[in-house]
Order: sequence, then C-alpha cells, then structure tokens
Amino acid sequence: MLTSLIQLKPLRYLMFATMALSFLSLPDIIHAQDMASTSTMANSENPVQRGLYLATAGNCMACHTAHDGEPFAGGLAMKTEFGVIYSTNITSDPDAGIGSWTEEQFVRAMHHGESADGTKLYPAFPYPSFTKVSEADLKDLFAFFKSVAPSSYAPPENEMGFPFNQRALMGIWNALFFDSERYVVDDSQSEQWNRGAYLVEGLAHCGTCHTPRNALGGKEDDRALSGGTYNDRVAEDKIRSWSAVNLTSAPDGLDAWSAEDIAAYLKTGHSSMAGSFGPMNEVITLSTSQLSDDDIQAMAEYLDSLPPIERAPQIEMDPADFRAGELIYTIHCGTCHLPTGLGDSSIGPAVAGSSIVQADDPSSLINVILYGATVPAPSPPGAWKTMDPFGEKLDDDEIALLSTYMRSNWGNRGGVVTEADVAQQR
Ligand code: HEC
Ligand code: HEC
Ligand code: HEC
Repeated sequence: MLTSLIQLKPLRYLMFATMALSFLSLPDIIHAQDMASTSTMANSENPVQRGLYLATAGNCMACHTAHDGEPFAGGLAMKTEFGVIYSTNITSDPDAGIGSWTEEQFVRAMHHGESADGTKLYPAFPYPSFTKVSEADLKDLFAFFKSVAPSSYAPPENEMGFPFNQRALMGIWNALFFDSERYVVDDSQSEQWNRGAYLVEGLAHCGTCHTPRNALGGKEDDRALSGGTYNDRVAEDKIRSWSAVNLTSAPDGLDAWSAEDIAAYLKTGHSSMAGSFGPMNEVITLSTSQLSDDDIQAMAEYLDSLPPIERAPQIEMDPADFRAGELIYTIHCGTCHLPTGLGDSSIGPAVAGSSIVQADDPSSLINVILYGATVPAPSPPGAWKTMDPFGEKLDDDEIALLSTYMRSNWGNRGGVVTEADVAQQR
C-alpha cells in the first residue's frame, strides 16, 4: 500500500492539495491564505470545511485513493486476514460512489459497518474505530463528501476465498469483536484529554495499526495501543510487515517521551526522541501534520497518559553472539547512534530505549536496517538526515545478530531476532 513511499507521497499530497484547492477556491468559503492548511478549519462555520478537517483527521484519503487514482475514488488494495480487499469509491458519483446515499446511510456505515443496502462491510474499513465518532461530526463529514468531485471509477473485485467472501459472516465477527458505541467522556479527566482520546480512539484510528489483533483480526482491547503489525502490500504478491510500536508509557513504549515530544513528532515527523519513517510518514503527511495545534496537544496529552503495558521480554544473549553483534554495531552503526546507544541530536536518534528497537514484533527494526529511514518531506527543522539502507551490506544472519544485540544491550528488551525473521522482510 505504501510502495516507494518517498516517491508517491508528494504526488498524493499534491492530489490532495489540488482537490482541496479546487473546492476551496469557492470565494464564499475560504480566503486564499487559508488554503495551505486544513488546521484552521476545525471550528469553521461551514460544515463542508469542518468535514474536510475531519476527513483529514480520519485520513480517508490514504485508503480511498489508489496510487495513480483520483482522490477518494477507491481501488487501493489492502491485504487482510481475509484476503485482498479494495477500498471503495466514496466520491459524490451517484452510481460508482456514495452520491446517492442519505446521511442516515452514511452514519450507519460509519457506526455499524454496513453499506447503503445493509450489506456487512469488512473491518479493513476502520468502522470499529469510527463507531466512536459523534453523529454531529459524521454529518459534517457527509457534507464534505457530498462536495467531492464525482469519479465514475469502479474499483476491482475483492480477492477472497470461501468462506471469507461471504459477507454475512461479518455478522458473526461483529458479534464477537465489535460493539457499536460512541465515545464516552471520562469526567475524571480534562476536556483536552477527552478531546485527545476521542480523536485517537475514533477518527484518527491509531489502534488500527498500533493495537494487537487476534487470529481473526479482532482488536485486543485489553492491550490497546501496546503495539500491532501493519501489512503493507508492496507488490502484487509481496507483503512487507511493519511493527506499529507500543505507544503506552512502558519502557518498551513511549516511557521516555514527553507530551511535547509526541506532539512534535505528530506535527512534523521529528522529535528529540525519534524521527519518523515507513508507514508513519504517510499518517503524518496526510493527516496529523495538518491538524490544529490544539488537537495535536490533546492527542499527545492522552497518549502520554496511557498506563504502561509491557510487551517485550528481557533476554540473556549468548556472550559470543553478544560480542559478534557488538562488533557489527560498532563498525556500521556506532558512528551515528554512538557506542552508548544514546545517539546525538545532529547525527542520529537514540537506539537505547527506542520503541522501534524493542517492539515485540521486530519487523520495523529489520526494515530500518534493510531499507534505511527518511523523514517525510519537507524535512522539518532540526530533523536528522536520511539513514542509508544496509540490505546490501549485511547478510540476514548478521542483521539477526545485530538486532538481538540491540535488544539485549543498554537496558533494552525484546525477544531473539532470527535469520528467518530477517529473510521474511526481504
Ligand atoms: C484503513 C483504511 C481505510 C480508512 C482510513 C478509511 N476507509 Fe473507508 N473503507 C475502507 C475499505 C477497505 C472499504 C471497503 C470495505 C468493504 O468492501 O467491505 C471502505 C468502505 C467505506 C465505506 C462504504 C462504502 C460502500 O460503498 O459501501 C464508506 C462510506 C467509507 N469507507 C468512508 C470512509 C470515510 C469517511 C473515511 C475517513 C473518515 C474512511 N472511509 C477511511 C478502508 C478505509
Ligand atoms: C497505517 C498504520 C499506522 C497508523 C494508522 C498509525 N501508525 Fe503510528 N506507527 C506505525 C508504524 C508501522 C510505526 C513504526 C515505524 C514507522 O515509523 O513507520 C509507527 C510509529 C509511531 C510512533 C513512533 C514511535 C517511535 O519510537 O519512533 C508514534 C509516536 C506513532 N506511531 C503514533 C501514532 C498515532 C498517534 C497514530 C494515530 C494518529 C498512529 N501512530 C497511526 C503505523 C501506524
Ligand atoms: C550515517 C548515520 C547513521 C548510520 C551509520 C546508521 N544510522 Fe540508524 N538512523 C540514522 C538516522 C538519521 C535515523 C533517523 C531517520 C529518520 O528520522 O527518519 C536513524 C534511525 C534508526 C533507527 C530508528 C530509531 C527510532 O527509534 O526511531 C534504528 C533502529 C536505527 N537507525 C538502527 C541503525 C542500525 C542498526 C545501524 C547500523 C546497521 C544504523 N542505524 C546506522 C542514522 C544512521
């Protein structure tokens, strides 16, 4: 889904900007100086503008736009537990899109996961998160989608074998793993905290990637946001997994991050703790960087308050393997990440205490080593430079040793990384 991310992003970003511009240039809606960003629209008088802001918070664009497709016309392939699912056309086209839908049908889709005719939708559409969104916000979202230029594009048919091609089965899935319920305000917390929780758990659907899932794809709510796996379909028959790391305040999560660090990261892709790369680049570019400072602060406050859920085990590495790993680290990594693992504000981030290094599922750590890392463009002030890939320089067994070494040194945690784990990410 996020193949050659760096090349695609400016393109998609541009499409979004063009789409926003064509609709925003309506002189009665908005002044020219506001066009660059949606962040001012959160409290607009105009429901269509508020809807655009909410569509940005929900990142509807990322899933509903194919790599070379028209905005919101669907057709992006997603690999799921059930097979390959294509996102739908949600433009205002009356036949191919949702132009003939009523507001009630739209609300039902978002709150209950049902299409206009009542057919059950697959949870690759994050309705298990969108169910938390208020009806008032959904009305604004609907007003925005009514204004999106129609596209007659018809996405490909889903590629799913029996029994998962039987949509009625989703009724059973829903009974097991889904409750249709709105966000409930926690009176013991501040208004800002509640706003953050409402966004993170609802529209921004962070748990879609960051919450672990059971074998049938149901979110494990008792371990919410403690780390999940996101499968990126990089080619027709090739999946690359990424660990969406532990966001709770556990030592293998965001324990060392302040609310300011989290806010800076979501706003720009860079904080003193880590820079973004991989799938988060798209989340940041298309969604969080465009949200108002108030909403970003609120999300950061909520995330910072999450009680720790530890996921990574502490292991004892064989001393000879430890020395072999240390040698590879010293030769290839130590100049930037330093022998202490603490990094340096001008050369590279800390790998000691990093949630990427310690993630239960090591796939993002392996990916950084194989494919390198780059923050989203334009590079924010003070951001680290790109890290070059090591996939050609290091063998699978070397990367496995190096990874396990990094997970057992500097007080870090995390299970053994095997040669097979690395091979799987190639
Ligand atoms: C993580 C990917 C993802 C995101 C984000 C996402 N969608 Fe979707 N959406 C899908 C997929 C996949 C489907 C098709 C599901 C199916 O066929 O069962 C879908 C289906 C829908 C449908 C049902 C359309 C129909 O014809 O039945 C609506 C409405 C919809 N999405 C609206 C939205 C809105 C509004 C947003 C943003 C707030 C959004 N989606 C964000 C993946 C996504
Ligand atoms: C499409 C899947 C996906 C979604 C949606 C997503 N994330 Fe992530 N996130 C990832 C992955 C994968 C990583 C680790 C690798 C990377 O940076 O891409 C990550 C990393 C992070 C990190 C950095 C941790 C570190 O130590 O570097 C933070 C913070 C974060 N996500 C917060 C969020 C928040 C808040 C949301 C909701 C607004 C969110 N993510 C939505 C996939 C996702
Ligand atoms: C030339 C300097 C340089 C070298 C050498 C280097 N890195 Fe990096 N590394 C970086 C930079 C810069 C980033 C941040 C990139 C970003 O913000 O997207 C990074 C990010 C990382 C991260 C993500 C940390 C986090 O929490 O987000 C890991 C893990 C990592 N590097 C491991 C390694 C390993 C292992 C090696 C040796 C094989 C290595 N690096 C070699 C500069 C370097």
